Amino acid sequence: MKEVQILATGSYVPDRIVTNDELSTVMDTNDEWIKTRTGICERRITTGENTSSIAAKAALKALESSYIKPVDLDLIIVATATPDCYTPSTACIVQDIIGATNATCFDISAACSGFIYGLNIAYQFIKNGAKKNVLVIGAETLSKILDWNNRSTCVLFGDGAGAAILGCGEEKGLIEIHTGSDGRGANLLKCNAASVDINNKDLKEKIYGNTEDVDKSYLTMEGREIFKFAVKAMGETIDTLLNSSELTIEDIKYIVPHQANLRIIDYMIKKLKVDSKKFYTNLQYYGNTSAASIPIAMDQMNREGLLEKGDKILLVGFGGGLTWGGTIIEWTINKNK
Ligand code: COA
Repeated sequence: MKEVQILATGSYVPDRIVTNDELSTVMDTNDEWIKTRTGICERRITTGENTSSIAAKAALKALESSYIKPVDLDLIIVATATPDCYTPSTACIVQDIIGATNATCFDISAACSGFIYGLNIAYQFIKNGAKKNVLVIGAETLSKILDWNNRSTCVLFGDGAGAAILGCGEEKGLIEIHTGSDGRGANLLKCNAASVDINNKDLKEKIYGNTEDVDKSYLTMEGREIFKFAVKAMGETIDTLLNSSELTIEDIKYIVPHQANLRIIDYMIKKLKVDSKKFYTNLQYYGNTSAASIPIAMDQMNREGLLEKGDKILLVGFGGGLTWGGTIIEWTINKNK
């Protein structure tokens, strides 16, 4: 049976940098609070771009560094909590931008675990022979759904996109994948769908009666509960992956965690008793980019030359839903490819 491998990676972040100091000029916050509570120093914000356009930029970077042409892609999966539209899917829009005319395209909603869920779906399609070359993208323009009047949430997030092309080969690639969900925590981290907006009050009452509008469509979060969930989900996912692959933490060169918060990562470093260098972080520069955070980190590691063929890396994510997931990958891309 052929193995499922990552053939190429790509990422894109918008040029506009918003530092903590800049935020402190427009709201009651400061660099010290944000840095000590989260580790975040700055984030990128899209100006005039939507999720599909940054997703397509990340995809094109992945395509450029592979031998795969857009027409060779037969499946595109976009993981996002901030799609351009209810319909069409962001994946279909990306398909059009990059010219992947032979692909089947759809989006998935699994918040910050979305990229891992996407890898899992791609894995199943490739392993059973239904698809050959699959593009998985995690892309977010979270700045569009942030409540900029709520300093507890808006300072945490940023925009960006990361992509990976998966295909099959002889060498080991994706060794183990695990995902899970718990809808009982659905209210802990959420963004409502847009509320009904009919300007004509009479017409609105005739159709809906005298009902209250749904809350505004902003991201809301119970920060402390999410923190507790995050450390539990990360710990359990890492244990599950190591147990089922019969590997130890020493076999793993890098852990690439969802880039939400340095304190969550520090907690995991202590719990696992590992060197902090085993955890790759870039949240200092991008904040939490939800589904994009893991693929952006993985692409940066790839481009920085941190990954050698044969290295084992462990990706682990958690987020709204509640959702979580992880994968162990044996790296199969030659350096500087
Ligand atoms: N700047 C300055 N002060 C702020 C602030 C900001 N941006 N945001 C909140 N505060 C204030 C609060 O108003 C509160 O003040 P008060 O004590 O006078 O009421 C104080 O700081 C503490 O707020 P609290 O929300 O209790 O802080 P916390 O220690 O729980 O830290 C988080 C908040 C969000 C950093 C923390 O809960 C966390 O990291 N949670 C996980 C978030 C996460 O990872 N989400 C993504 C999951 S995918």
